[in-house]
Amino acid sequence: MQIRMVTTLLTKEQVMELLGPVRDPFIHTTLAETDGIKNVTIREEKKHVSVKIGISKLNTGEQMQMQQEIVGILKKNGATTVGLRFEQLPDEIIREHQPAVDQAKEASLMGGVNPHFIAVASGKGGVGKSTVTVNLATALARLGKKVGVIDADIYGFSVPDMMGIEERPIVRGKKIIPVERFGVKVISMGFFVEDNSPIIWRGPMLGKMLNSFFSEVEWGDLDYLLLDLPPGTGDIAMDVHELLPTCKEVIVTTPHPTAAFVAARAGQMAMKTNHEILGVIENMSYFESKVTGEKEHVFGKGGGKKLAEVLKTKVLGQLPLQQPYMDDEVFAPSVYQEDHPTGQEFRRIAAKIVAQVEE
Ligand SMILES: Nc1ncnc2c1ncn2[C@@H]1O[C@H](COP(=O)(O)OP(=O)(O)OP(=O)(O)O)[C@@H](O)[C@H]1O
Ligand SMILES: [Mg+2]
Repeated sequence: MQIRMVTTLLTKEQVMELLGPVRDPFIHTTLAETDGIKNVTIREEKKHVSVKIGISKLNTGEQMQMQQEIVGILKKNGATTVGLRFEQLPDEIIREHQPAVDQAKEASLMGGVNPHFIAVASGKGGVGKSTVTVNLATALARLGKKVGVIDADIYGFSVPDMMGIEERPIVRGKKIIPVERFGVKVISMGFFVEDNSPIIWRGPMLGKMLNSFFSEVEWGDLDYLLLDLPPGTGDIAMDVHELLPTCKEVIVTTPHPTAAFVAARAGQMAMKTNHEILGVIENMSYFESKVTGEKEHVFGKGGGKKLAEVLKTKVLGQLPLQQPYMDDEVFAPSVYQEDHPTGQEFRRIAAKIVAQVEE
């Protein structure tokens, strides 16, 4: 019997099969899924395989790595020489895989963790963003979620004081361990300045700080990461949009119709950057007299509803003017207790958000 050495080179089909599982480094999808193997030619006599690959981003270090990977695979399977060309994948293919791209980007920022991001925004200052952030975070933790808060108001940090946090984060290796309070992990610029001295850093430093809050903090496993934004639509808000493409937003307003008008700007920015708006929270909605039980609309009426209409979203809740109960043992001046009426309203809001986000 005559034994013939099988020296026939790979077939086109085999090349497709071998390269199909290789992943596009940016959209984290296989070449089989992106239809990224564009052209295969094989020259048997020279054992030469040439392939054209569609990739989502050209001329990067990742492309070089992918090139080595592909050449390696083909040579291991019989090719002596490999010719490789890259071309840009069509936009619609990239867009189709965008959510995966966004999540991968965020996960790499967070060192692998990929929580639901929720930014708390408003058009202007003093309407209760920070109050909403800390209480929403606490309410989510009370619902059993793993929650973190980034006090992204770098100049005007207030989260540590509001939650009554006195300790400072510790540094382990190269990572900052966030401070935990009421089951919520917190990081704030306030932890890093001496005796409340004002911060006079400028733009570039700010962006870097925000980045550090993601990448240099040991968040561990998180379901939700809330961001307390500074007022308005400034640099930080833009950075958040940029850094966290899947971030969702809660917009806080007071009931006054003009306040809602101002808050609409923050919401419209969110919409422009494709951030989903989870809803509007109307804060300081009314004052309820303990004596007569009568509700007085001290700051006007209808702002939340009006804002929700403009932003094509809903009102998640209305919070009255009220202080948390006095508690000598647990000092947290802005956190409403679980059995406080406002604490219960926050619980309802948190449950609505969970249902909406985790559906
Ligand atoms: N529902 C409420 N009842 C009583 N006081 C409230 C309520 N909401 C907020 N406050 C108080 O109003 C002040 C402003 O609230 P907060 O700091 O949360 O607003 P902010 O929008 O974060 O402000 P800034 O724009 O300065 O960051 C705080 O002193 C807070 O305790
Ligand atoms: Mg604030």
